[in-house]
Amino acid sequence: MASYSHFLLLYLFLMSSVICQVTEFISIDCGGTSNYTDPITGLAWISDNGTIMNYGKSAEVEITNGNMQYRRRRDFPIDSKKYCYTLGTKERRRYLVRATFQYGILGNGDAYPQFDLYLDATKWSTVVVLDASRGYVKEMIIRAPSSSIDVCMCCASTGSPFISTLELRPLNLSMYATDFEDNFFLEVAARVNFGALSKDVIRYPDDPYDRIWDSDLEKRQNYLVGVAPGTVRINTSKYINTRTREYPPVKVMQTAVVGTQGALSYRLNLDDFPANARAYAYFAEIEDLGANETRKFKLQQPYFPDYSNAVVNIAENANGSHTLYEPSYMNVTLDFVLSFSFVKTRDSTRGPLLNAIEISKYIRIEPRTDSQDVTVLNALRSLSAESAWTKEQGDPCVPAQWDWVNCTSTTPPRITKIALSGKNLKGEIPPEINNMETLTELWLDGNLLTGPIPGISNLVNLKIVHLENNKLSGQLPKYLGSFPNLQELYIQNNYFSGEIPSGLLTGKITINYEHNPGLHKAAGKKIHSKLILGISIGILAALLVVLIGSLLFLRNLQRKTSHQKTAVQGSSLRVNAKPSTAYSVSRGWHMMDEGVSYYIPLSEIEEATKKFSKKIGRGSFGTVYYGQMKDGKEVAVKIMGDSTTHMTQQFVTEVALLSRIHHRNLVPLIGYCEEENQRILVYEYMHNGTLRDHIHGSVNQKRLDWLARLQIAEDSAKGLEYLHTGCNPSIIHRDVKTSNILLDINMRAKVSDFGLSRQAEEDLTHVSSVARGTVGYLDPEYYANQQLTEKSDVYSFGVVLLELLSGKKPVSTEDFGAEMNIVHWARALIRKGDAMSIVDPVLIGNVKIESIWRIAEVAIQCVEQRAVSRPGMQEIILAIQEANKIEKGTYGCQKLHSGSSKAQSSRKTLLTSFLEIENQSPDSSNGCLVPAAR
Ligand SMILES: *[C@@H]1O[C@H](CO)[C@@H](O)[C@H](O)[C@H]1NC(C)=O
Ligand SMILES: *[C@@H]1O[C@H](CO)[C@@H](O)[C@H](O)[C@H]1NC(C)=O
Ligand SMILES: *[C@@H]1O[C@H](CO)[C@@H](O)[C@H](O)[C@H]1NC(C)=O
Ligand SMILES: *[C@@H]1O[C@H](CO)[C@@H](O)[C@H](O)[C@H]1NC(C)=O
Ligand SMILES: *[C@@H]1O[C@H](CO)[C@@H](O)[C@H](O)[C@H]1NC(C)=O
Ligand SMILES: *[C@@H]1O[C@H](CO)[C@@H](O)[C@H](O)[C@H]1NC(C)=O
Repeated sequence: MASYSHFLLLYLFLMSSVICQVTEFISIDCGGTSNYTDPITGLAWISDNGTIMNYGKSAEVEITNGNMQYRRRRDFPIDSKKYCYTLGTKERRRYLVRATFQYGILGNGDAYPQFDLYLDATKWSTVVVLDASRGYVKEMIIRAPSSSIDVCMCCASTGSPFISTLELRPLNLSMYATDFEDNFFLEVAARVNFGALSKDVIRYPDDPYDRIWDSDLEKRQNYLVGVAPGTVRINTSKYINTRTREYPPVKVMQTAVVGTQGALSYRLNLDDFPANARAYAYFAEIEDLGANETRKFKLQQPYFPDYSNAVVNIAENANGSHTLYEPSYMNVTLDFVLSFSFVKTRDSTRGPLLNAIEISKYIRIEPRTDSQDVTVLNALRSLSAESAWTKEQGDPCVPAQWDWVNCTSTTPPRITKIALSGKNLKGEIPPEINNMETLTELWLDGNLLTGPIPGISNLVNLKIVHLENNKLSGQLPKYLGSFPNLQELYIQNNYFSGEIPSGLLTGKITINYEHNPGLHKAAGKKIHSKLILGISIGILAALLVVLIGSLLFLRNLQRKTSHQKTAVQGSSLRVNAKPSTAYSVSRGWHMMDEGVSYYIPLSEIEEATKKFSKKIGRGSFGTVYYGQMKDGKEVAVKIMGDSTTHMTQQFVTEVALLSRIHHRNLVPLIGYCEEENQRILVYEYMHNGTLRDHIHGSVNQKRLDWLARLQIAEDSAKGLEYLHTGCNPSIIHRDVKTSNILLDINMRAKVSDFGLSRQAEEDLTHVSSVARGTVGYLDPEYYANQQLTEKSDVYSFGVVLLELLSGKKPVSTEDFGAEMNIVHWARALIRKGDAMSIVDPVLIGNVKIESIWRIAEVAIQCVEQRAVSRPGMQEIILAIQEANKIEKGTYGCQKLHSGSSKAQSSRKTLLTSFLEIENQSPDSSNGCLVPAAR
């Protein structure tokens, strides 16, 4: 009986500890409609409806990966606010915080969402949805800074912010402790299980902490490529002792890769890098080595002196086989393409072995709004019943400030303005308000406030104070009259009493104190003592000003030095980072593939193209073949010619860069291959071929009407504009021409062949040694001085616009003679005011002359001899959009000449200057101009 009850107790204890572990998890199904237990993991998911989140609305997700928690998402309004989930934490305990984003199918007219994710006041990541059918995962390891954290979505640049799930997983003891955790969070960039048995991730319950361990087989996430020959996958079913620091799951440690030919070599993309990172390697000997056998290896690449010299001998380091050895690098600076190799030592009989790796980026923790200020805001909130304004979430100032406050941009932020007019506040003004030294405006009018004005002697920055229409009583503080910045004081309709401080009545301050029955001005006879009082107050105030001034000065000094410090850190970071990889196209990491292109084996490409049997074109870099991947996706496969111009490593780096550049007007890169000296790029297939074929192809193919041409011009201009301004450093296309503008199945244009030979140099010279470009499109200034800039692309794009207008080829002896090209020809005609003569004959009769003129004008500006005279892509886009509106008749011709657009106001248009020269239509400001009619 006793033993039975013991057993029962033990059982209950075990049960409760298991349940405890799980109930400490917080798993929120955002947009979910009910609470439920996930049948696969056994985890309890709760819906965020109402109790957790009062904003946004639940939306159905059309494509799901089957898991319940991805069937709905929560969409937030598109506005300037932030939307936050508050999660309870234990201060200083470490947690894994995970947010996932699965949009589902993009509806008609929806834009791909792009918005910011914040953890408290720290920017965590920018969520960029590039493929709506995939899930995006963001993980952060934190030591909780207080008793709760806020996870906020805000600042959408396209689409609406949304979220699918939010998960909080407590970690044990000192897991993931770092030397820097007072000041840095750790954003997980990669966590890979090598030698995995399947493509599935490993997580709870195999990992009691529910980390997600990606399989190295999951090629779609692609960021991982193994390159060493002789790499073999091994596994064991024996137990592995993983009780070291990070407690990786046994299942992950039971599999590994081994370099049987002496080396293990991997390449891996790290999003949002270069950065400083924490890197962990997990080794456990899972092969049975004979007595005379050894496994010893070194890290050969990247070369860190401290680590590369060390010889890893797993069994010895771990003190036995089937035991984890977990070396880690506390702080390494990594590029976003990380290549690493382990190589066996000469005296070792076995090759290197690797079970798992983990890499996390340090993210500096940004301070939240000054806590004393927040105390006052919370006290004010408690004075009002459940109104919407009291429910604003997250930090009052970052990333977006609450509606009723205004903040400084200092770190930490402070409150400068409280705007609570007519908010139904009941009770007394909280006395802590005296701590808000930076307050300049206080609006508490039209409430039901009672009691006196509390001590506010510290609020010397106050400019505007509105307390009218309340039930406030007591005396006005004497020092109010000496606040140096006070401009407005409204206290009418209250129950104040006593004397009005004379400093308030000098006329410098706008004051209204009507309808305060007990309030009165100082009586005349007291003036003498008043004066003395006033003088002494004046002296006191002067002292106060000096004191505060010097305090502020000291504070500024401190702030400056701390700024200097960060600046120094920043520059050392930059020195470590190679400029060629300093891209700021910021995206989170993978899990279910972020649309990053991936490595495709040559065999798969051969199969897809049926051994390169269908040639569909020649691009500037090589021959292009049609193909169809196993999943049915149609692709264009480009074999890069001339293998000497690119080193393999450069190719890989460039491809990694290119695969991060996504824009709907750029042809997407799907994958790449470098095998047997072949370098191959796989692009999405564009069904309608090149623009060149549509303009210059056989006559019956010529069906592009003017609106279609304008659409194509706008699309391709947007693609180029993105290369020039959306990427950092900017990318010069170098070979803009109609055969590099492709048309998809909906006849929307996408620019291809961009960026494949160095990005624009970071310095302003843009010197380039690689000559590129096509006759007829080449910037003459580039000929002259070999300087390639964004304006060279503008020149080439001007030629494309002329082709769209005229239907003529850039160089053609039959059209223009041997000496001339399209630019000379068109310029001469347009300067004569004869735009109609250049218009493609198939268009005549179906176009509005004004819209032709708008394009002709901007095209001629594009092909200006001097680069500085050419417009930027943004200006060109505006011109095309105007032409489009004119053509569709939605743009009054009045408006066209009213100088309303930036392009027109900033520059005298060719049209008007031409008219000035001709001196025929001096009054061009009203009425429509129809040059061809003259
Ligand atoms: C789901 O669970 C949470 C937390 O236990 C609770 O607050 C909420 O009311 C539950 N919602 C439903 C729909 O049962
Ligand atoms: C919660 O669910 C109800 C019923 O499904 C719905 O009407 C309401 O809008 C939801 N609230 C939120 C904040 O999503
Ligand atoms: C947390 O650490 C304690 C102490 O080492 C250990 O007994 C316990 O099993 C750990 N919990 C988990 C879930 O690993
Ligand atoms: C890591 O090392 C760099 C360079 O030595 C240093 O600037 C930085 O503060 C260190 N810590 C973190 C968390 O980046
Ligand atoms: C280890 O010893 C076994 C037998 O003792 C022998 O057959 C084998 O060749 C040895 N291996 C090496 C690498 O020396
Ligand atoms: C906050 O201050 C800025 C700059 O002074 C101002 O432009 C903005 O309108 C203010 N916001 C509010 C809510 O008063």
